Amino acid sequence: MRTPIIAGNWKMHTTVEEAMELVRAMLDGLQAVPQVERVLCPPFVSLYPVAGLLKGTDIGLGAQNMHWEEKGAFTGEISPLMLKGLCQYVIIGHSERRTYFGETDEGVNRKVKAALAHGLTPIVCVGENLAQNEAGETDAVVSGQVRAAFAGIDAASARRIVIAYEPVWAIGTGRAATGEQASRVIGGVIRGTLAELYDAGTAQAIRVQYGGSTNAKNIREFMAYPDIDGALVGGASLKADEFVEMVRLAAKVKFGA
Ligand code: 13P
Repeated sequence: MRTPIIAGNWKMHTTVEEAMELVRAMLDGLQAVPQVERVLCPPFVSLYPVAGLLKGTDIGLGAQNMHWEEKGAFTGEISPLMLKGLCQYVIIGHSERRTYFGETDEGVNRKVKAALAHGLTPIVCVGENLAQNEAGETDAVVSGQVRAAFAGIDAASARRIVIAYEPVWAIGTGRAATGEQASRVIGGVIRGTLAELYDAGTAQAIRVQYGGSTNAKNIREFMAYPDIDGALVGGASLKADEFVEMVRLAAKVKFGA
């Protein structure tokens, strides 16, 4: 069975002090649910202090972006060398980076390869926007993003990647996809594409999260679908009690009790 994984993407929220306060507020609650892989993705400047707070726990830490080069004249960028040893995960290709910062499928692929090469677990985001959804292009868009992200990556490395299916129209809108919609894309389109790229076993081994307006009220609906392995949580991950509750509910749905 795939280990469920719930990650909090804090986006551009929290000062260092606020980030530390938030971690302190959720640490005990998160530690009480070891059946679920739990990951916090604060802003870059908080990675180091948060890593200190998480030391000795089994809570994972992730960055929200990364450059593919190890070093060089890339003002303002953060490299895999800087992240490795500090955190274990890195979100790659979030739709906000694709939309506002010009990230391309090719760049996403380079970043995924760099993360894997440095022992970081990439959380690769894919998802169609509203216009694509309404035009019936969801399957083609998502499948294309998966193919591009996994280009040139062998099956053994592919199994280390986590995919987050985040329909852009569901992000920050309060209008989540239904569990049925998310499961169709994740189980059908994404795992179907992975099976074509690799084989059925690899497609079943790779974990796929849903993201987009998840909260403590709707998390059970998503987790109830066998193809959905967890959530990439935005807004609700900034509320300590709600995020802990989401992790608890995820464990409850997947493992009972
Ligand atoms: P919200 O949960 O705020 O909709 O954000 C989802 C997201 O983009 C996580 O990466």
